[in-house]
Amino acid sequence: MAVIHLRSYGKINLCLDVTGVREDGYHQLETIMQRISLYDRIRLEWDSQARSQDKDGGQAVAIQVRTSKPYLPTDERNLAYKAAKLMIERYGGQRQGSISISIIKNVPVSAGLAGGSGNGAAVLIGLNRLWNLGLTTRQLCRLGEELGADVPFCVLSQNTRYDCAYATGRGEVLRPLRQGMKKHLVLAKPAFGVSTKEVFRQIDNVTIKERPDCKALITGLKEQEEQLIYPNMINVLELYTLKKYEAVSRLKKLFIEETAAGKVLMSGSGPTVFGVYDTQQDAKIACEIIRKLKYEAYWASTTKR
Ligand code: C5P
Repeated sequence: MAVIHLRSYGKINLCLDVTGVREDGYHQLETIMQRISLYDRIRLEWDSQARSQDKDGGQAVAIQVRTSKPYLPTDERNLAYKAAKLMIERYGGQRQGSISISIIKNVPVSAGLAGGSGNGAAVLIGLNRLWNLGLTTRQLCRLGEELGADVPFCVLSQNTRYDCAYATGRGEVLRPLRQGMKKHLVLAKPAFGVSTKEVFRQIDNVTIKERPDCKALITGLKEQEEQLIYPNMINVLELYTLKKYEAVSRLKKLFIEETAAGKVLMSGSGPTVFGVYDTQQDAKIACEIIRKLKYEAYWASTTKR
């Protein structure tokens, strides 16, 4: 039996623009993704002695997923399960045994933080190691594309020292950035999740007047120049989510009015809103303020591993 422990990090989008709709229904994006310090803990176990009891007569590799949140699915709907299934299909070969995945969730679910995508990425990375497959990060990213648009970034940021990337295509065409954001954060969300599918479907009916200049933001990150970074931290998906879900727009307003944030933005399709702070002290104070107002809130950073 072999066991591996992995950290599955969340991400935020420092900017997000929708530049078109593709024939497959997915949207063409331009975004900068940044890994954050908040992570789920994943324990991955490969037991080649265990025999699957499934209907194939015990020939298949069995998959078992457990999570610390009882409401999360542990079957094919879970990205960790899907990732294991994909690895078995492509690289299982003659292997027999069982894969057990335990996930301790810390990254909020359905929150725009790629929590599920990170879990999928961790399983790809973990099985690559447990089975000594020798797949490169690029190959793992390719596999990740089949699981979801955010999975390749999660593979990159969990399997290399890059923690920030410029992403185009569906979000899977990555250009790693040597210099990401170096700030403290508070992440907060109302007590509900938002469907990414819904937000992307509805954004087609919205006129986008203001778009981020991602290139300027990249320059800003390179030079650590706030005047280039903050004005370009624009997420066009806010145009739908903030209007449809009043609690999200109220939360953003609270961050701006009640805390010392240099910038406040929604991540991904939401509903998580994050504030950016210069010091951990400022972030902790802000986090307390937001928690007192009954939102689920976390302080984090874009730097620590
Ligand atoms: O790729 P993922 O499964 O995470 O995406 C969830 C949904 O979000 C997709 O089914 C699609 O409807 C929408 N989406 C999109 N364009 C993207 C990414 C996601 O339309 N670039």
